[in-house]
Amino acid sequence: MPTRRAFIAGAASLPALAPAARASEPVSHVLRAAPATVQLAPADFPLTPLWAFNGTVPGETLRLRQGDMFRARLENGLDQPTTIHWHGQRLPNAMDGVPYMTQAAVMPGDSFDYTFRLRDAGTFWYHPHANSLEQISRGLAGVMIVAEAAPPEVDAEEVLVFDDWRLTEDAQIHPSFNSRHDKSHGGRLGNYITVNARPEVTGQQVSGSRLRLRLVNTATARIFRLRLDGVRAWIVALDAMPLDVPEETRELILAPAQRADLIVDVTAQPGEEAMIASVERDGTYAMVTWAVTGPVRTARTAPSALPPNDMPRLAPDDARSQPLVLEGGAMRGLPEEAVWKGERQAARKLIEGGQFWLFNGVAGMPDTPLVEASLGETIRIPITNRTAFPHAMHLHGMHFREILPVGLGPWRDTLLVGPDETREIAFVADNPGNWMFHCHMAAHQMSGMMNWIRVI
Ligand code: C2O
Ligand code: CU
Repeated sequence: MPTRRAFIAGAASLPALAPAARASEPVSHVLRAAPATVQLAPADFPLTPLWAFNGTVPGETLRLRQGDMFRARLENGLDQPTTIHWHGQRLPNAMDGVPYMTQAAVMPGDSFDYTFRLRDAGTFWYHPHANSLEQISRGLAGVMIVAEAAPPEVDAEEVLVFDDWRLTEDAQIHPSFNSRHDKSHGGRLGNYITVNARPEVTGQQVSGSRLRLRLVNTATARIFRLRLDGVRAWIVALDAMPLDVPEETRELILAPAQRADLIVDVTAQPGEEAMIASVERDGTYAMVTWAVTGPVRTARTAPSALPPNDMPRLAPDDARSQPLVLEGGAMRGLPEEAVWKGERQAARKLIEGGQFWLFNGVAGMPDTPLVEASLGETIRIPITNRTAFPHAMHLHGMHFREILPVGLGPWRDTLLVGPDETREIAFVADNPGNWMFHCHMAAHQMSGMMNWIRVI
C-alpha cells in the first residue's frame, strides 16, 4: 500500500491519476451478466438455461437510499457486448448505458463501473440496452429500489416483477429472436407469464394489514391488465414518481417497462383470499394469492401521498412543440419509401432489413435528434400512433407529463399509446446529453422505433 505521502506525490506528478483514483472507490454492487440455469417452468418441467444478473431471475433487487452515491460494476460474462440502462433514473448522461451513444459497449470479459447519485426515491429497474430484445427476453432484468428518507408506514413490502416468457415445450427459451411476425405485430409475446419468475406467488397476510407493493413489468411486449381482489388499493407512484394524490383503483394497466407503487389494505376476512390476477384474452390468471388470517387489524385512513421527488415546474403553454408520428407494422404497412440509414429507400428494402416501423418517416436511429432542446427549455411532443398496435413510449433521462384535456397527468417515463391515439407529453429539458426516446416493446425498438433527444 502506498503511504499517504507517496500517493500525494504520485498524484502531483501524474495529474491524470486523480480521477482514476476517485473512480476506483469501491463499488457497492457487482452485477455479472452471464448464462445461468434456473427452474423457471413449473417443477415437472426441465430447467431453463437463460441469461441472468448474478445468476437469478429477476436479477438481484438493489435496495438503496435516496441521496446516496450508487456504484455498480457490470461484468460481462456473456459472449456478446452488453451495457446496463438504469431505467427511469434521472442520472448524468454518461451513466445511461446506451451503447454507441453514451458509452462504448462492454465487450465479453470486460467490465464497466456506473456511478451516480440517487436523486429520486422510487421503483426503478435495470436492463441491458444492447441487443435488447434477446438480452432482456433471456432474463437480464432486475429491480432497483430507492427508499425515501421517511418511507410510509406499512406492515410489509413486496416487490412483484411481472414477466412473460416464450418457452419451447421442454422449457427452453425459444430462440425466435428474429421473428418478422413479432417485429411487425405486437412484439415477442410469450406463452408463460410469471411474477418473480414463478407462475404464481403465494403467501399469507393478516386481515386489515397495510402493504406496499412495487409492481414492475419487465416483459418486452406483454401489457399486463392486473385486477386486485380482497384489498383496497391506492396507486401512490407511477414510474417511480409519487402522485400528488393517491388514486384508489381495482385494476391497472402495466405496459412494458412501467412501474406502479401501490398501498394496499387487506380487506378480505380471515379464511378468505386476497389476490392479484392478470386479465388475459383467454382468461384471468391468479398471479399473487394471499391466504388471509386473523386477528383482524383495525383499518386505517386512506394513505397520504409519498414525499415528492424534486421535479421541475412544467408550464407547457410556453413550450416548443415537436410532433412525432408512429407508422408501419402489420395491417397498416409502410409507405412506398422511407428513410433508413440516412437514405431514402423503397419499403421493400426496409422490410428485407427487418425494419417495419417509422418515427416521422424514419426507421431506426436518425443522425439528427427529434428535438435539440436548450437546457431548461420545455418541449411538447404530440405522439400520433397511426399503427394498429399499442406502443410503450419511453424517454430516457427526464420524466414527462401527459397534457390532458384538463390539467397534467402524473410524471412518467413510459407512456402507453394505443392504436389511432394521439397523446401529448411535455417535459422540461433539464438534463444535458443525448437521450433515447423509443418504444419499449423491444421487437419494435429494434425494427425501427427509435429516436433521440439532445439537450444542450
Ligand atoms: Cu428501459 Cu431505453 O430503456
Ligand atoms: Cu411499439
